[in-house]
Amino acid sequence: MNSPNQPHPHSTFNVQRSTFDVPNSSFSSSPPLPPAVSCASIHKSFGTGEARVEVLRGIDFTAAMGDMTFLVGPSGCGKTTLISVIAGLLDATSGTVELFGTEVASLSSRDRILFRRKNLGFVFQQYNLLPSLSAAENAAVPLLAAGVPRSTALERAAHLLDRLGLGSRTKALPKILSGGQQQRVALARALVHEPRLVICDEPTAALDAESGHSVMELLSQTAVHPDRAVIVVSHDNRVFHFADRLAFMNDGTITKTESQTALQEK
Ligand SMILES: Nc1ncnc2c1ncn2[C@@H]1O[C@H](COP(=O)(O)OP(=O)(O)OP(=O)(O)O)[C@@H](O)[C@H]1O
Ligand SMILES: [Mg+2]
Repeated sequence: MNSPNQPHPHSTFNVQRSTFDVPNSSFSSSPPLPPAVSCASIHKSFGTGEARVEVLRGIDFTAAMGDMTFLVGPSGCGKTTLISVIAGLLDATSGTVELFGTEVASLSSRDRILFRRKNLGFVFQQYNLLPSLSAAENAAVPLLAAGVPRSTALERAAHLLDRLGLGSRTKALPKILSGGQQQRVALARALVHEPRLVICDEPTAALDAESGHSVMELLSQTAVHPDRAVIVVSHDNRVFHFADRLAFMNDGTITKTESQTALQEK
């Protein structure tokens, strides 16, 4: 999976990594940071009676701060369902989800919305762009929702789109963009407000190798931060070397998790 000639993508961030290690080190008096995501015994069923399908069957999953955690597994095993539960887009049938040490479900509905709006960026498998808004307006939505003035929000969104190779498409409506371009607009929308947790469902599926690589580099830089994390669902083994940790999923359960280092040693 990992080419021996391919440096780990975080290697250019070693200085920050060693600094970031300090809060959890035994020499530090600070308490250890909670994981960005901690799921315990998550079950999720759809339907009732004979039509009931249990899609998540007792998931324990953590994503550490500063890490890019990949979630991989065959089609239909429950990856999108799990990240939707983590993001609060779906309610679990049972089990708990903590984000940065907070059990979001225990907050009032207003605080839950504010918590998610501030801390979470989500890239949907089907992009879910608003069809009547331009690329820059779509990407600016989280800033506009947070009350950032429109001109500033659009400027920041356009800047991010430019970094993603879409500088000339900021005024285009989604329907005239290719799938890969829409995917990058969706990514810009997930990153523009600099959330602590970014969750991406197949962020490189519609991209050529070069665009896929630059998207993963941007995500990787986002993850390399002491109180942030990125979770990526991916089938795309061209980008697996970006993962700090991989969680393997099958038929509604996590079958194993491996660090990149452990995988490289195999
Ligand atoms: N709203 C729903 N109602 C009923 N079944 C559902 C619903 N959403 C998902 N499922 C079922 O849950 C299972 C897991 O779906 P999910 O979308 O989480 O899989 P996935 O691992 O993301 O697959 P893929 O890699 O193809 O995107 C599938 O069998 C799917 O049909
Ligand atoms: Mg899916």
